[in-house]
Amino acid sequence: MTDSPSQAEIIDMLRQHVEAGCTDMLADAPINHFDAAPPEAAPAEMRPVEAAPEMAAPVAPIAPTQNNIDTTELAASADSLPALRAAMEDFDGCALKKTAKNTVFSDGVEGAKIMLIGEAPGQDEDRQGKPFVGASGQFLDTMLAAIGISRMENLYISNVVPWRPPGNRTPSPDEIALCQPFIARHIALAKPDMLLLVGNISNKTLLATDTGITKLRGQWQRYEADGLSISALPLLHPAYVLRRPETKADVWADLCRLKKRLAN
Ligand code: URA
Repeated sequence: MTDSPSQAEIIDMLRQHVEAGCTDMLADAPINHFDAAPPEAAPAEMRPVEAAPEMAAPVAPIAPTQNNIDTTELAASADSLPALRAAMEDFDGCALKKTAKNTVFSDGVEGAKIMLIGEAPGQDEDRQGKPFVGASGQFLDTMLAAIGISRMENLYISNVVPWRPPGNRTPSPDEIALCQPFIARHIALAKPDMLLLVGNISNKTLLATDTGITKLRGQWQRYEADGLSISALPLLHPAYVLRRPETKADVWADLCRLKKRLAN
């Protein structure tokens, strides 16, 4: 006689989880929540699906290596956007890739003067393999269209992290540090004249600042890396604006600033 559940019972428990909507794996290893002390590997900052990106913690500087693969070297070895995409699609050193369906590389016009960078793909983006195609992306498209910017004509789009974090949690500092060389190389190869940095993670990672997006938004900054110095405009994340309609006036004021700069 044993206390272990039978295979049929395990399958039944799994089925119950799936029926209850638990369809994503949130960590590499199972976590026994009955343990008094949680295991160290437990994800530190899981958040609900639509939690505010604006509440994310500052990005800590961590060496961009995982499984002994140096992403700085890998990214630097790509001499074109297709080569970078291929290198990222072949890279297996980021745990997020195990649960993601796609490497979400970019959308829009290659060579556009404006490059917009978000945080990480959500469920719709992961399914379609393109950034900002879900509800927040459609809202973003509508806002940008009002000032004559569109991914069909004059905008190139990517994310700091190219793989969907399970459950849409905030990417961890390690994951961001690991992916940072990819987006830095992406910017260097795309050669935009202007960056639109959307949400906290994008701003904190690419401007190397601890200042939160609600303070930074609408104030022109400079992205300085790899010998580049590019004008960068921090913007509120559209998912945040959708959740907090009272911030629509702020984002509209920032877009008017952008329109004015583009007219000069
Ligand atoms: N949020 C992001 O930051 N990026 C996406 O591609 C989608 C949602």
